[in-house]
Amino acid sequence: MSYIIGMVSQKGGAGKSTLARLFARELAKDGFSVKIADLDTQQTTCTEWAADRAEAQIEPEIQVQPFGNLKTALAESGRFDAYILDGRPHSFQQTLEIAKAAHLTVIPTGQTKDDLRPAVKLAHSLADAGIRASQIAFALVKTTNSEAELNAARAYLDLTDYVTLDGFVPVSTAYGIAHDAGKVITETPHRTLNEKAERLAQSIINRLGAIASEKEAV
Ligand SMILES: Nc1ncnc2c1ncn2[C@@H]1O[C@H](COP(=O)(O)OP(=O)(O)O)[C@@H](O)[C@H]1O
Ligand SMILES: [Mg+2]
Repeated sequence: MSYIIGMVSQKGGAGKSTLARLFARELAKDGFSVKIADLDTQQTTCTEWAADRAEAQIEPEIQVQPFGNLKTALAESGRFDAYILDGRPHSFQQTLEIAKAAHLTVIPTGQTKDDLRPAVKLAHSLADAGIRASQIAFALVKTTNSEAELNAARAYLDLTDYVTLDGFVPVSTAYGIAHDAGKVITETPHRTLNEKAERLAQSIINRLGAIASEKEAV
């Protein structure tokens, strides 16, 4: 099975490229073929990061290519076990195209209402445009470590029909340093931080598995 996963949000800096790189590395290290289509041609975050990673000779190497056009990007998606679409902010049109193409669309959000509200609003807009709620998932990224705040955020998201992924990624300088070195957020020197990121990546994998078995059941 070849999966297409979209990372989208209307906000810049929400964590789309962080999740794209995390998920790519977690699959690649287990021997799956993966590629990130970098659709944020303004930032090209993943593209530049992949060059840093290659320069530092970090294994596994992650394939990233920038695309101005989703159609071109999708043309080769079937050649990979997982094809990750890293979206640009402020473009509902591109976001919707990504969600239509993807088996799973992940929306990163922080734990504050300021972040949660636009994330839910985006999910509603996608659902209104015909995307199935079970194929839209929120990921708690750049949060605090406060259990009370995280629980409140989960309670808020649980009121919706969409999926909230297990795990969370708190703000940490070590994550930023990892990115700067061409690494992903499971590759910091800190085991607890790596484990937090791993849990979120595993939750994306589990969700894809659930979607695949729902499809088989239909
Ligand atoms: N948990 C985190 N802690 C600290 N910095 C983070 C964390 N997650 C992401 N970042 C940093 O935040 C910035 C924006 O993240 P990014 O994933 O590029 O957002 P987007 O792709 O949505 O614009 C990047 O510099 C990234 O390294
Ligand atoms: Mg980005």
